[in-house]
Amino acid sequence: MTGAGKRSGAEQKWTNPLRDPHDRRLPRIAGPSALVIFGVTGDLARRKLMPAIYDLANRGLLPPSFALVGFARRDWGDADFADIVREAVEANCRTEFREEVWGRLAEGIRFVAGSFEDDAAFAELQDTLTALDRERGTDGNHAYYLSIPPKAFPVVLSQLRRTGMADPSGESWRRVVIEKPFGHDLESAVELNALVNSVFAEESVFRIDHYLGKETVQNILALRFANQLFDPLWSSHYVDHVQITMAEDIGLGGRAGYYDGIGAARDVIQNHLLQLLALVAMEEPVSFSPRHLQIEKIKVLSSTRNIHPIAENSARGQYGPGWQGSDKVIGLKDEEGFAADSTTETFAAIALEVDTRRWAGVPFYLRTGKRLGRRVTEIALVFKRAPHLPFDDTMTAELGQNALVIRVQPDEGVTLRFGSKVPGNSMEVRDVNMDFSYGEAFTVSSPEAYERLLLDVLLGEPSLFPVNEEVELSWQILDPVLAEWTREGNPDEYESGTWGPASADEMLSRTGRTWRRP
Ligand code: BG6
Repeated sequence: MTGAGKRSGAEQKWTNPLRDPHDRRLPRIAGPSALVIFGVTGDLARRKLMPAIYDLANRGLLPPSFALVGFARRDWGDADFADIVREAVEANCRTEFREEVWGRLAEGIRFVAGSFEDDAAFAELQDTLTALDRERGTDGNHAYYLSIPPKAFPVVLSQLRRTGMADPSGESWRRVVIEKPFGHDLESAVELNALVNSVFAEESVFRIDHYLGKETVQNILALRFANQLFDPLWSSHYVDHVQITMAEDIGLGGRAGYYDGIGAARDVIQNHLLQLLALVAMEEPVSFSPRHLQIEKIKVLSSTRNIHPIAENSARGQYGPGWQGSDKVIGLKDEEGFAADSTTETFAAIALEVDTRRWAGVPFYLRTGKRLGRRVTEIALVFKRAPHLPFDDTMTAELGQNALVIRVQPDEGVTLRFGSKVPGNSMEVRDVNMDFSYGEAFTVSSPEAYERLLLDVLLGEPSLFPVNEEVELSWQILDPVLAEWTREGNPDEYESGTWGPASADEMLSRTGRTWRRP
């Protein structure tokens, strides 16, 4: 069964606030609803989901009737679970902790104990939700957040189908929220999508790519399509290449269960970095409606190809021991849970081209890694050199290429790099930076990505969630690279605290380019 035709009444009524002049300045407040979290004892729930729910409540964006239901194999009652949520919120909330807000939220907190195979526990979940609908007025609107390992998806989805909990009635809605990994290759992603769509209509499936919830990522669209300044430069006429970097300084201690056998490319390139590429490379959408945005992203991902030979146009590595600042750190193979012969890559870089009139011939270099020099995510458009420089060589010896850098994090903003005369008697030209910084330009702090995304789930606003076609196209791009790496054998080791293996530098130096050192 496909999802077509299963659209609920509530979803049909969805209107895009960006397009409605009347509610442009009204806060977007979720309607009556209950959020059920499966996997509520996990790290994500504690560090991100629970605090985000509180922050939304504190900002007045949740309705008074909102309910949060935890489901897990723990011997807890509602009050025990509420204590756990409170602890997580106090430790990680972004906004101030206020007793009165917490008190209201806590009234709607419930816990159901059981395993995913336990029919009785699902019957209890159903009773709990029915009681909440009746007592708190959640109106049959239920979102199910699967913050669980992918191998548990089939059982939970089939329980939701069997009990009818996935089916909306009347005006109510039922939605499912899925955390990556969305499969581990194209084939498994197709299978997963078929499974999910056999239970929930595609319109009711919200796949979380938390990068799309970041303000700086949404700003890519504002920068590109609200300004006249950048568009004329945004093509192969002026851009030499694009570098998309997501570097982390943390290691993988404690994450072996999820990460070993997955690696950096599947963990980050398949989703976050290809989504960034799509936003940077896409054409102007007809509007910001979800469908129009999807159409443009899908066009880009359909036109994206690996640069061949893949062996020379990709690199991967695994961190060895080294120094992170003044701390001595161990290599991956010594981290708890990783085998001494683990071949999991912790650094991945690939070179792609987007086969369109705008981008033909412009390489897009994507890289990510753990235990690199510092934590930074940025998108850099590196421009071609001026065709002619009326200076002596010595005057421009320190002049690099112009660059427009979108600083996704941590120092959110935009940098324009260009040459400027060095003060003095000679005409010496050197690179300078012109900076826009969120922290200085705006007084309000940015919501966390999960705040935005959870609110959008409850509102039924799908713009910031990749659809299954995007997921499958992304695997289509990555699969040949993964196959090549499997043929090659072990990844190269790089020292912790550096910028990855030498093969990554060679990958660019073959074409006379270098990675930025952000
Ligand atoms: C997750 C990855 O999606 O993103 C993690 O699974 C990574 O490996 C994390 O650490 C980084 O997120 P952020 O928002 O801190 O850049």
